[in-house]
Amino acid sequence: MNDMFKDVVSTYINGEYVAPEDARISAFDRGLIFGDGIYEVVPIYAGQAFRWEEHLARLNRNLDTVAIPRPHTPQEWNQLVAKLLAPATGTDHYLYIQVTRGVAPRNHVFPDAIQPTVFAYVQKMAPVATAALNEGVAVITIPDFRWHRCDIKTTSLIANVWLRQQAKERGATEAILVRDGMVTEGAATNVFAVMDGIVRTAPQSPDLLPGITRDLVVELMQRHGVEYEQRAFTERQMIDADEVWMTSSTNEVIPVGRINDKVVADGRPGPEFRRVYDLFQQFKAQCRAAAKQHVG
Ligand code: PDD
Repeated sequence: MNDMFKDVVSTYINGEYVAPEDARISAFDRGLIFGDGIYEVVPIYAGQAFRWEEHLARLNRNLDTVAIPRPHTPQEWNQLVAKLLAPATGTDHYLYIQVTRGVAPRNHVFPDAIQPTVFAYVQKMAPVATAALNEGVAVITIPDFRWHRCDIKTTSLIANVWLRQQAKERGATEAILVRDGMVTEGAATNVFAVMDGIVRTAPQSPDLLPGITRDLVVELMQRHGVEYEQRAFTERQMIDADEVWMTSSTNEVIPVGRINDKVVADGRPGPEFRRVYDLFQQFKAQCRAAAKQHVG
């Protein structure tokens, strides 16, 4: 098998389970030509899709928004995902799902009655580095030059990949995006900042993705009495904040240690981060235990 795919444990394309190197689509697929598709990234812990209902709901909502027909019922998705997850034992994995509008001669207008293309795979996921958790990661701030529907999880990601690349070239892990002076989100993360003991994250709007991890962190803070507000903050407020963290399905909750060239507070992940990180890990452990009980 090609080494490029060594961490991929299962692959699905349009009704077939195949080796990753055999997952092929037409060059006329609108996903390829226009980035005309929707996707999801779902963490897999102990062989279980984490927050699956929430991810599926977002996928369906996004498909409806851009008028791509839902290719599967929830029951069909469950069967498909169960089969893909069968080899995902031991370490953590993630599930990638992509649904494009399908194959048709190039025309901007949506074609009538074509079959969506469904592609999915499961891959091993490296745990977040201990150094990142202990010291925080470096980020840059950069103008958010994306479109005005960043709430849609679309495969049209050239802006995001370009922004993330700029972060990498400046020695940073993530690009935190700023629109009209306000922090929207990261190139592939949501952003939290702690100011005067209160955790803040931008409210949902078309300017940012309604992250599943973000929503879970908000839910956990609510449930455990952590003081928080869903209220936008400026780039300056973030740079001067006591703590800054980011969330995503592949990073969970990760602290920021440096923004541009300025160290955040004393440069160490703060007490609110520790608390929320622990709540997140406890929640994961409970889900694992519940899944085991279910199987046993
Ligand atoms: N990215 N904002 C953007 C622009 C994202 O691409 C992501 C996730 C998030 C966090 O959302 P969630 O908590 O649902 O993962 C926020 C995924 C992981 C990716 O593209 O790989």
